[in-house]
Amino acid sequence: MSKRPGWLDNAVFYEIYPQSFKDTDGDGIGNISGITEKLSYIKELGCTALWLNPCFESPFGDAGYDVSDYCRVAQRYGTNDDLVRLFDEAHKLGMHVLLDLVPGHTSWEHPWFKESMKAERNEFTDRYIWTDSIWEEPAGYGSLRGISDRDGSCLVNFFTHQPALNYGFYKPQRPWQQPMDSPGALATREAMKDVMRFWLSRGCDGFRVDMAGSLVKNDEDCKGTIALWQDVRAFLDEEYPGAAMVSEWGEPSQSLAGGFHMDFLLHFGPSHYNDLFRSEHPFFMGEGDASAFVSKYMDSYERSGRRGLICIPSGNHDMDRLARHIKGERRRLAFAFLLSMPGAPYIYYGDEIGMNYVEGLTSKEGGYGRTGSRSPMQWDGSANAGFSDAPADKLYIPLDPSPGRPTAEAQLQDEASLYSEVKRLIAVRQAHRALQSLGEIVFVSDGAPGKPLAYIRSLGGERIFIAVNPTDKPCALTVDGELGEIIYSLGNGAEADGRQCVIAGCSAAFINLK
Ligand code: GLC
Repeated sequence: MSKRPGWLDNAVFYEIYPQSFKDTDGDGIGNISGITEKLSYIKELGCTALWLNPCFESPFGDAGYDVSDYCRVAQRYGTNDDLVRLFDEAHKLGMHVLLDLVPGHTSWEHPWFKESMKAERNEFTDRYIWTDSIWEEPAGYGSLRGISDRDGSCLVNFFTHQPALNYGFYKPQRPWQQPMDSPGALATREAMKDVMRFWLSRGCDGFRVDMAGSLVKNDEDCKGTIALWQDVRAFLDEEYPGAAMVSEWGEPSQSLAGGFHMDFLLHFGPSHYNDLFRSEHPFFMGEGDASAFVSKYMDSYERSGRRGLICIPSGNHDMDRLARHIKGERRRLAFAFLLSMPGAPYIYYGDEIGMNYVEGLTSKEGGYGRTGSRSPMQWDGSANAGFSDAPADKLYIPLDPSPGRPTAEAQLQDEASLYSEVKRLIAVRQAHRALQSLGEIVFVSDGAPGKPLAYIRSLGGERIFIAVNPTDKPCALTVDGELGEIIYSLGNGAEADGRQCVIAGCSAAFINLK
């Protein structure tokens, strides 16, 4: 088993959508220097690491998830040197930076694809997945057809302009479906290792890997994809053992077996993550049911939790903002949960101040419904909320127009703000190893209708009981151990006596256990 980089043991991540974080050159789009300038804000909140969405050259048909040069920072964000400076400055603050690796597909403008479209065989002919004839469309996949001299349809992974790179088929069924160990598939894999080498050798601390579970095709149980990532793991163990890897996979029993250190629970896939924050009756609004989530979580945890970290994000650039569904005080309860669970928590920029989903926006760069979660960070009360000096109509995405929109500046000065609560929660987590990535978890209450979520976290000799109750009613719980000092409390907190605890409605408490 590979070694986990030590800094993941207490990591708290902050996800940055670079377009919308901070613009320092007045063009209305965020840039790398802006992120560097705001590192102290992120550090002050208590986060220890960043994940940046793709910041590479791209025609931006999918906000940069359509890469046209993996090794060059997009001009609008600055230069490669700016990114290296960000790594250096982050390291000086004891922080780490993950880049977004998009190994499954490129933009159709990538030079590899242009070569691959040619009729004559060349080095890139097998870099993508093509059928043998334009008249055959790949069953079960979308395809790109009729724009190449080459006869064939090219598989696409997501949008039509994102041709799928060739990592082979686990079970080839048609003559054009190459096996995983074919020269073309292996060459793609090696090319992606070179991309990783390029950034790791310049100070990047690892990668968030886009659509990591779908690289090998006709791979129902992901056996081929797991084997592929195990090979990447061997390469990293050999050359960059300090690199941290987190997958967009959503099935930890597979991804962690593939050698990822972390996997996300996502708004799609089997995790029931949406039951908590984004369903019609989300658990954290006090009216839902978290029990299917807990049961799937514990299954994943028992199967893989010792191998790696299951990471629960507050949100991300693909899903509705937390604040769209979870209102008022209950947002704090959501953070009390997120920041007391095992694995590394991920906070999506702006969620710490309760930034809203901006309704009714026109799609930007392939964002569609996701655009409302990608609006500019609200720094202060100045023009454009301090995001940019550009005229308001030049901003990448319009700001939240609501008059009472939250700002970082106001919340930093207010002890009672969501920001201050999140900061306190991170500080409590950082003060107790049992609450951090590796502390074990046992559930006491699974959030079935009308019930709180309650669990015991433990590591070494330390045991902490946590109860988070978004329902309106108090709830009595019996705990395996003697309840002691209350180390954190929200709302009306809890009353504890011996093994008995009553957690008040719309409240949370973290209590030492003897
Ligand atoms: C992932 C990204 C998403 C992107 C898609 C295609 O799901 O998070 O933003 O559109 O992959 O790359």
